[in-house]
Amino acid sequence: MVWRRLGSSDPRLALFTLPVTRDESTNVDLSVRLGRLCLPNPVLVASGTFGYAREMAGLVDLAKLGGVIPKTITRHPRPGNAPWRTVETPAGMLNSIGLDNDGVEAFVTHHLPYLATIGAPVIISIAGQDYDDFVGLTARLNGLAGVAAIELNISCPNVSHGVDFGTDPLMCERVVRGAREACSFPILAKLTPNVTRIAEIALAAEAGGADALSVINTCLGMAVDWRRRRPLLGNVMGGLSGPAIKPIALRAVYQVAAAVKIPVIGVGGIATIDDAMEFIVAGATAIQVGTANFYRPRASMEILEALPGALAELGARSVAEVVGTMRANF
Ligand SMILES: Cc1cc2nc3c(=O)[nH]c(=O)nc-3n(C[C@H](O)[C@H](O)[C@H](O)COP(=O)(O)O)c2cc1C
Repeated sequence: MVWRRLGSSDPRLALFTLPVTRDESTNVDLSVRLGRLCLPNPVLVASGTFGYAREMAGLVDLAKLGGVIPKTITRHPRPGNAPWRTVETPAGMLNSIGLDNDGVEAFVTHHLPYLATIGAPVIISIAGQDYDDFVGLTARLNGLAGVAAIELNISCPNVSHGVDFGTDPLMCERVVRGAREACSFPILAKLTPNVTRIAEIALAAEAGGADALSVINTCLGMAVDWRRRRPLLGNVMGGLSGPAIKPIALRAVYQVAAAVKIPVIGVGGIATIDDAMEFIVAGATAIQVGTANFYRPRASMEILEALPGALAELGARSVAEVVGTMRANF
């Protein structure tokens, strides 16, 4: 896919854009703008739940998605955590994958060429153990064909130093600024719910120059086999996801959207059009479908198909008209 750059001769101010997507039957404009990133619609798929897209190609019309965020990559290959790495829970799942991936060079060689052909914007998720890791990775990806934006995973609960940058406002601001200066792509920061005041971290990411915020990554949890007196996950603790965390994610999106001026992408337990609309009226400009991809691989398509009708039901002609319109005063 060729990305048109508009707006400025300074590459860091360039606007990445696709043609506006308008639903023909309802005439509703589905396109959304996340800072310098314009997406054809607000339905994305979340990192770590959609592989590198190839795995899902037979199930999902990839070109229709508002965005695809492949599994987080790191500078060097990582084997991931010891098994078990996933456990089913009531209304959700725990995972402690541990950012298992083959490293950035293997990604650029083996996965990016395919991702560049899928027809949807591709947002590369990266994680680092320290500042140099994050900034070095961002610089490595800078300018590569097929990349629409970069999502900084500063919120992985399953690796050492995984949440350092997502829990300390000063570290968060510095790493976002470093990434922003190292590349011309729009920068998203993905926040963890495992903090006392998520709005403080959101404000720090905004001050560092993030184009938008993805809210939330998984909630730290645990599962126990009491007969064997052992944890079920090899890493003892893991990240809880799925419908169980939707209320937490909704609350976090609402708090963050009230605190910052940049757009928020809602993530956490979204599986249906009703879930998606709840996030949008609570303050999300776009949404990511995560765990639902495992048990209903077409959930993102179903949400996308139902979206124009849901927006029209509210009398809206665009997504933007509905974002953050929930009234908290009764
Ligand atoms: C098995 C699994 C692996 C994940 N891997 C990543 C990852 O590599 N990077 C990341 O930013 N988030 C990762 N996540 C978190 C999801 O992207 C998402 O933020 C979270 O699961 C909440 O959304 P959901 O409830 O819709 O799944 C992973 C989640 C699951 C369930």
